[in-house]
Amino acid sequence: MFGPRFARHLASRYRKRGLDSIAARMVAYIVDRGLRGASILEIGGGVGDIQLELLGQGASRTTNLELVDAYDTDATELAETAGMRDRMTRRQVDIAATPDEVEAHDIVVLHRVVCCYPDYERLLTAAADHAQRLLVFSHPPRNWLTRTFTRLQHVGFRLIGKSFQIFAHPPAAMVAVAEGRGMRTDYTHRGPVWQIVGLTRASQL
Ligand SMILES: C[S@@+](CC[C@H](N)C(=O)[O-])C[C@H]1O[C@@H](n2cnc3c(N)ncnc32)[C@H](O)[C@@H]1O
Repeated sequence: MFGPRFARHLASRYRKRGLDSIAARMVAYIVDRGLRGASILEIGGGVGDIQLELLGQGASRTTNLELVDAYDTDATELAETAGMRDRMTRRQVDIAATPDEVEAHDIVVLHRVVCCYPDYERLLTAAADHAQRLLVFSHPPRNWLTRTFTRLQHVGFRLIGKSFQIFAHPPAAMVAVAEGRGMRTDYTHRGPVWQIVGLTRASQL
């Protein structure tokens, strides 16, 4: 599902138009909470566009975790063009399955990722446990439209032999997972297609 063609599309869109509006809001939330010198862990960060923006705004270094290597060529090209390659690390790790393989960072980001992973509880537990200061993630709303869409997607993909699934996980339950790991919600954005939750580690408030 997430192959080189998808990666090329993301990189080309970023070169032409910059961040999508939801990613831009996530970056603004982080910058607003203070970014100088922070380390960033992005889970499922694709071609690394959010990481490039955060480095440009004062982050010290970034680590990208991915399940696939399909984005690496385009991500490396973008990082080299921006002169940021030596501050960016890319790894192929499923943090939900092997959380101990990844060190904690100041800030953890997941954009359009929880909807691609079946076990949101494990993924967000690992994400929160690796966030020393902030955790921000985007997700689709859960309503009749997204529930119908995800059901049709499951059936359609099964018919053409693809195992990939999209999930509209329950937003309140996702927030409860992160808050159960010592984070407090201090930002929400409710768009029609993507919603954002920003959380700060309670001990930092
Ligand atoms: C829809 S893409 C989004 C890519 C990028 N964040 C963006 O918005 O352009 C979702 C990505 O999340 C990655 N992903 C899903 N679960 C993951 C996990 N547990 N660990 C690392 N990456 C994950 C997938 O490999 C996929 O590349």
